[in-house]
Amino acid sequence: MKKLYGVGTGPGDKEFLTLKAVAIIQNAKVLFAPNNKGKNMALDTIEDFIKEQKVILIDFPMGKVTKEDYINAARIINKEIPDGETGAFLTIGDPMIYSTFIYIMKELEKLNMDIEIVPGIPSFVAGAAKSKTPLTVKGDNFLLCDEFKEELLGEVDSICILKTLKDKEELLNSLEKKNFDYRYIKRCTLEDEQIIADKDEILKDKDYISFIIGRRGAND
Ligand SMILES: C[S@@+](CC[C@H](N)C(=O)[O-])C[C@H]1O[C@@H](n2cnc3c(N)ncnc32)[C@H](O)[C@@H]1O
Repeated sequence: MKKLYGVGTGPGDKEFLTLKAVAIIQNAKVLFAPNNKGKNMALDTIEDFIKEQKVILIDFPMGKVTKEDYINAARIINKEIPDGETGAFLTIGDPMIYSTFIYIMKELEKLNMDIEIVPGIPSFVAGAAKSKTPLTVKGDNFLLCDEFKEELLGEVDSICILKTLKDKEELLNSLEKKNFDYRYIKRCTLEDEQIIADKDEILKDKDYISFIIGRRGAND
């Protein structure tokens, strides 16, 4: 029997790792993470806790990732964890939020792999704290999305949009039109973290590790 833990490593600063994540990472025989040009942000977060574990960066194609790629990743994980041992697949933030792990998990279940998820602090939760943006109070709702459409704003009180590189100006115009106060949060909890409210400055920035958090009527 072998077991894989899907481990959330939180927003980036190692102090936001959970004790459980650290224990599982330290006891794992193999650590897996997606290969981003030889690097991985989750792996950077846990670097102090890598000792004897084998580290495997799994390749995914640039652009569209197919079901075959997830099947292939599941096969690698199944092959690399020795019988009777555990592995940990690392994801930034939380594994159940917009992560590659979700697709791989489905393929691993078909191989009867024993799987357990260890939650991590999601990026937008860390960002809400850093920018002191309340996400919800009694009777409110909150929307998390990757790609933004103005129709989504409907009845929403607070919103976090993860993909900010495309159509950023339209996005900010929509938020303003619907009376949302917003912040752009970049590399949250990392040394070079920035929280930007100025529209022109937000429009200039092109960092993938960023999101926009907004709250309706926050300036009222
Ligand atoms: C594939 S999603 C992964 C989300 C992650 N599972 C989570 O729970 O936050 C990648 C996006 O997460 C966001 N993200 C993750 N860590 C971040 C950080 N430290 N600062 C700002 N944005 C971050 C960015 O919007 C990035 O485009």
